[in-house]
Amino acid sequence: MKITPRTFREAKNKRKLALLTAYDYGLARLIDECGIDGILVGDSLGMTTLGYSDTIPVTMEDMIHHCAAVSRGAKNALIICDMPFMSSQLGPLETVRNAGRLLKEGGAQAVKLEGGAEFAPEIAALTRASIPVMAHIGLTPQSARAMGGYKVQGKSLAEAKKVLNDARALEEAGAFAILMECVPAPLARLITSGVSVPTIGIGAGSHCDGQILVWQDMLGVSPGTPPKFVRRFAELGQTMREAFDDYKRSVETGEFPAPAHSYAMSDEVADALTTEEK
Ligand code: KIV
Repeated sequence: MKITPRTFREAKNKRKLALLTAYDYGLARLIDECGIDGILVGDSLGMTTLGYSDTIPVTMEDMIHHCAAVSRGAKNALIICDMPFMSSQLGPLETVRNAGRLLKEGGAQAVKLEGGAEFAPEIAALTRASIPVMAHIGLTPQSARAMGGYKVQGKSLAEAKKVLNDARALEEAGAFAILMECVPAPLARLITSGVSVPTIGIGAGSHCDGQILVWQDMLGVSPGTPPKFVRRFAELGQTMREAFDDYKRSVETGEFPAPAHSYAMSDEVADALTTEEK
């Protein structure tokens, strides 16, 4: 069954929502077949797929290209596309124009926008334009430079009040869901019970209405030590390394391809060919 922003709203207090990132057709298809509720084409693709050190260089064209591939792969999951850096920072008009492209050219069904209460006018403009928008508060990686790094947000009373205020303002502006990244679990719990839209957590504890992870992190494919909030549900990076080693060795020893992986020809044709070529 097709998941929509309305499905998300109706799930609140009834069932937990499970979301994952995806950036291409194949992964989107697999994830979709498993009944995951939402696929985020995150600007994390800047690091996971394009090899940048942060999300700042990611362009609208990058997002459209990857979102279009994901939307060809996923039939049921709600496809949410991130608004990349500088696509939502120049005011409501520019934000609506860019979000419209993510829907029209990328096949997204909703967009995600990073930022707190100061982005209420953009969220309201998107909502007026009938573009479903998920707000992203707490740690917002596009602002990591301004925030002084990738830090948990809302640990002090003043900071916690700010995150709470952001959630209320963005719900009020029309966000259909609120993603909270790296906020203390008690604060996420308070926000979740205080807003009527679903909250989606990443590093925000277990009381959120749903959870999201970056697929490379949860499958053990990302390099380095994962953030504290990641649980590795599989170690596919290791499995892939072993398979690549095995392949290399098999090619080098001539073990691969075996007759089972080769195409045959009748002896008659083979003999005739050899005779003619002599
Ligand atoms: O870009 C991204 O992957 C995100 C995460 C919060 C999932 O925004």
